[in-house]
Amino acid sequence: MARITSFEEYQKEYKKSVDNPEAFWAEQAEQFTWQKKWDTVLKWNFAEPTIEWFAGGKLNITENCLDRHLPEKANQVAYYWEPNNPTEKAVTLTYQQLHQQVCRFANVLKNNGAKKGDRVCIYMPMVPELAIALLACARIGAVHSVVFGGFSASALSGRIQDCDCKLVVTSDGAYRGAKTIPIKAVVDEALEICPGVEKVIVLNRTNTEIKWVEGRDVRWEEEVQKANADCPAEPMDAEDMLFILYTSGSTGKPKGVVHTCGGYMVYTHYSFENVFQYNEGGVYWCTADIGWVTGHSYIVYAPLLAGATSVMFEGVPAYPDAGRFWQVIDKYKVNIFYTAPTAIRALEAMGLDYVKPYKLDSLRVLGSVGEPINEEAWNWYNENIGKGKCPIVDTWWQTETGGILISPLAGITKTKPSFATLPLPGVQPILVDEKGNEIMGNGVEGNLCIKFPWPSIIRTTYGDHERCRQTYFATYLGLYFTGDGCKRDEDGYYRITGRVDDVLNVSGHRLGTAEVESAINMHVDIVESAVVGYPHDIKGQGIYAYVICTNKNKDAETLRKEIMAEVAKAIGPIAKPDKIQIVTGLPKTRSGKIIRRILRKVAEGETNNLGDISTLLDPLVVKEIIAGAIK
Ligand code: PRX
Repeated sequence: MARITSFEEYQKEYKKSVDNPEAFWAEQAEQFTWQKKWDTVLKWNFAEPTIEWFAGGKLNITENCLDRHLPEKANQVAYYWEPNNPTEKAVTLTYQQLHQQVCRFANVLKNNGAKKGDRVCIYMPMVPELAIALLACARIGAVHSVVFGGFSASALSGRIQDCDCKLVVTSDGAYRGAKTIPIKAVVDEALEICPGVEKVIVLNRTNTEIKWVEGRDVRWEEEVQKANADCPAEPMDAEDMLFILYTSGSTGKPKGVVHTCGGYMVYTHYSFENVFQYNEGGVYWCTADIGWVTGHSYIVYAPLLAGATSVMFEGVPAYPDAGRFWQVIDKYKVNIFYTAPTAIRALEAMGLDYVKPYKLDSLRVLGSVGEPINEEAWNWYNENIGKGKCPIVDTWWQTETGGILISPLAGITKTKPSFATLPLPGVQPILVDEKGNEIMGNGVEGNLCIKFPWPSIIRTTYGDHERCRQTYFATYLGLYFTGDGCKRDEDGYYRITGRVDDVLNVSGHRLGTAEVESAINMHVDIVESAVVGYPHDIKGQGIYAYVICTNKNKDAETLRKEIMAEVAKAIGPIAKPDKIQIVTGLPKTRSGKIIRRILRKVAEGETNNLGDISTLLDPLVVKEIIAGAIK
């Protein structure tokens, strides 16, 4: 692939991609191994929506991630795996070894009943076997649904049921910093209400004692011993499902975002090459968890499609101390480092003493993802980690977009702190007002939409296509609506301002307010609750919950603890509210709608300019809320 190497070239390619998207993407797709070439590059209709890229084409993404590289790169490292505990031995996997292990585990899946089209749930820590499990599913055409290891049994069972998974792949436990977490116990609890799961494949990671269900549970290590090392790649239609990944929206129930094989492959690879400007022989490290889309696209698929060498990290940024990221960068001589603003802010807060011992001189490019990066964090990252020499790519995208849509191209696009800058070729963003009218020109602000499909756009929400249409394609007819607000400055640069819907972004984790509210409402003493986000120094957004409690005898502290436990049980610890205020009522319109604007302002510490409250059912409620606001 001809990679973009200058800004002039970017402009030329961008123009080409808009003038003739089909020809542009067909050219990009040519470089891959197709078992059969496509008949049509693109068919689309956003009203339905139907979107097909490379229809009629046959491929297997793992042939492109692995087999294709073997003639030249068999002994090149695909992953350096760095364990949670630095005293444990690191693992290196070459392309040849990864290929072998993927094929072997693909046969394990088959031996345990998985077939093309079956859904396989993966609930694991960040071990090499996690990447292997995803690729093994793709090898046989099974659809993986990875659930982040921090989700609770209840959240896990909901996701398993929603897409009717037949198998679960997990481990006995997980190491996270100083803690050992019993992963398999969570799966056992989840499966009490998931009768459709026939087999559970359990990797031994922590030697944690586990419950064993005869006939259902099998051991990863034993199964691999029995399996054949040869597994031909299943021919997949370009539009066959590759994976499902659940994400939160404005309603209580997370939705299964569906990505397909061909377009996802072409776009994730294209974006990786151009945004990060990875060079042969370089070392790339994305610190995300594979449980989120960033890990799917930019730890597993795109770097392997590019034949890159990656670091994969099991641990957390501050274990054993806040210098861990920087130590790992020096250890592997990482050139490209991709992390989240919340991690940057947390490490910044720990002070420079943790940075100083490390050289960081291998770094060439820095990346940021998952939430808006504030100017202060951007500058700290730039000065102290990049030493003012490394371009920062602030990459904007979403689970639904599959890959990075708006971002600087490293070293090519002039950066500006906290700006995602310009769209990648093939991406046509527009800003619209509330009514859906396009806002033209520069120096403007509106809701961010995309007006033309790119190859890795969401195809459907699993089992409920209407929900996909409603959520993304019905707000503004003919457009994909991102749910984000956005500014376009005088230079035409895009700056994402955050969600305009009821979605929170807490430490880069996406949560729906309705989802957290329904978890809080599980508490027997709570009749109603309302959750809003507020600015948080480290997390980006914190969770502020207003709750109405019917039990007058319960003290606030006990109630707070119980609500936390309830939320941890329903969703996971990531969704625990930071502040809980007990109120006797919520500000509502006469028609009973909660006015969140007021709650948001109070949570932000604003008590004066609350806007018009004359339409409130009970204006006194606001006074009480202000008086009891938690600082
Ligand atoms: O609000 C945007 C924010 O994260 C949302 C997508 O979340 P998720 O699907 O979990 O994917 C996160 C990783 C791609 C977006 O709607 N977001 C993501 N990247 C950025 C961002 N906000 C500002 N700047 C970014 N670079």
